[in-house]
Amino acid sequence: VTSLFQEKYRPQIHFSPAEHWMNDPNGMVYYEGEYHLLYQHYPEKSVWGPMHWGHAVSKDLVHWEHLPIALYPDSLGYIFSGSAVVDWNNTSGFGTKENPPLVAFFTYHNPDIEQAKEIEVESQAIAYSTDKGRTWTKYDKNPVIKNPGIRDFRDPKVIWHEASKRWIVALASGQEIRFYSSPDCKDWTYLSNFGKGYGCHDGVWECPDLIPLKVKGSDETKWVLIVNINPGGPAGGSATQYFVGDFDGKTFTSNQKKTFWMDHGRDNYAGVTWSDAPDGRQILIGWMNNWQYAGDKPCVKWSGAATLPRELGLVKDGPVYLLTSEPVKEISTLYGESVDLKDINVSKSEVLSDKFDFAKAPIELKLTFNQENNTRLGFASRYGVRLKNGKGEYITIGYENVDKLFYVDRTNAIGEVFSDKFASIHSTPYIVNTPTVEWTLLIDVASVEFFTAEGRIAITDVFYPSEPFDTIEVFTENGDIQITEAKITELHSIWK
Ligand code: FRU
Repeated sequence: VTSLFQEKYRPQIHFSPAEHWMNDPNGMVYYEGEYHLLYQHYPEKSVWGPMHWGHAVSKDLVHWEHLPIALYPDSLGYIFSGSAVVDWNNTSGFGTKENPPLVAFFTYHNPDIEQAKEIEVESQAIAYSTDKGRTWTKYDKNPVIKNPGIRDFRDPKVIWHEASKRWIVALASGQEIRFYSSPDCKDWTYLSNFGKGYGCHDGVWECPDLIPLKVKGSDETKWVLIVNINPGGPAGGSATQYFVGDFDGKTFTSNQKKTFWMDHGRDNYAGVTWSDAPDGRQILIGWMNNWQYAGDKPCVKWSGAATLPRELGLVKDGPVYLLTSEPVKEISTLYGESVDLKDINVSKSEVLSDKFDFAKAPIELKLTFNQENNTRLGFASRYGVRLKNGKGEYITIGYENVDKLFYVDRTNAIGEVFSDKFASIHSTPYIVNTPTVEWTLLIDVASVEFFTAEGRIAITDVFYPSEPFDTIEVFTENGDIQITEAKITELHSIWK
């Protein structure tokens, strides 16, 4: 088994299918000590095709066990994205109160109707399991939500709404989100929609999620509506926007005027959260890819991986609510050796990779930069981390201190060019106004996930150098910077 997951570019700390294609994570639910991760899967080839739900489980969100395919396409269509819940009170009648069923909600995408150029291609359906997700039975009266005459009508995300004692589904419908409610997972009533006049509309809205989150340091709870969009993302292609507001069991409302993005890189898409995660945690996982080049990547045995699971939070900066994301604390189960460094002044370059003997990836890199006096003469105009190889290929993760931007530049992070859409610089404005700023980089063999500004900024990007990046340096331009603290930690492969 170990040799299976050792191919060039194979992620070592991220979930990927043993073979062939994956896109969106689906059906994430926590039940009896297991985190279920199902996913859009084409088991025949490493490109998109008739969609199945692949399946894996984990006890810690980090180590995954592959299970047999959960849902196969049938005469009603392909199995598109969706969600799953534990029906604790057996409202559906698919189980018993003692053995509550898991209920999965998915979209049927019917290729025959599509070929006939009719519009009602997509509808919502359910399946259930009474054996901890090991086998799934499709409901015999599917679909449960018929197509109302809208071409794009998919990706049901279901939650239990305690105040109204109803199941609520958020689903994507063209360029809006529709909400329906149900007492039993089968019988759905249309409630309302959200979208017109809000956020970005440069693509189709997909894969929504609706979650309550407590505002950090207060007792206030707000509802966050996550909306994936393709294309139209800030870095190009697919990306995830969100809206902070209120939900009364019927309608989602928001005062948010601006478009906010959950991640500013190119490779975090279709993320939604786990249902029933313990301790009220809201944990999201995305597809670490972008529809602009997903099918063209230089991996043949498998294609696609998930992001690291991220814990979501909410902060209030003045009048503005911002979603935060940080890697889940369970990443620490992968920790191996580490080195701690202190008070390093960097002028031009400081190579970090000579300071430790373990592999250069996967690692976690935590850096605290001194940002005091950042207007003084001689303070770096740009600084950050560069990963390089001996072939002149590199990726830069930086802060631009003049224009005040966090950015990732991966224009030189590939060996063979496989898509003209791949090379690019991804940035987002952010004024660092704290005396120090902490960066966390999770570096795998073919990706970097960058978190900073206490979770307000996330940038996720994949890379495909011809040889692994084996040099890691902190760089500055036009001046210097002080690293007050650095910690580099080896991460063990999840497949060993
Ligand atoms: C998002 C998406 C979903 C759809 C699925 C099909 O990446 O387009 O809207 O259900 O992928 O595989």
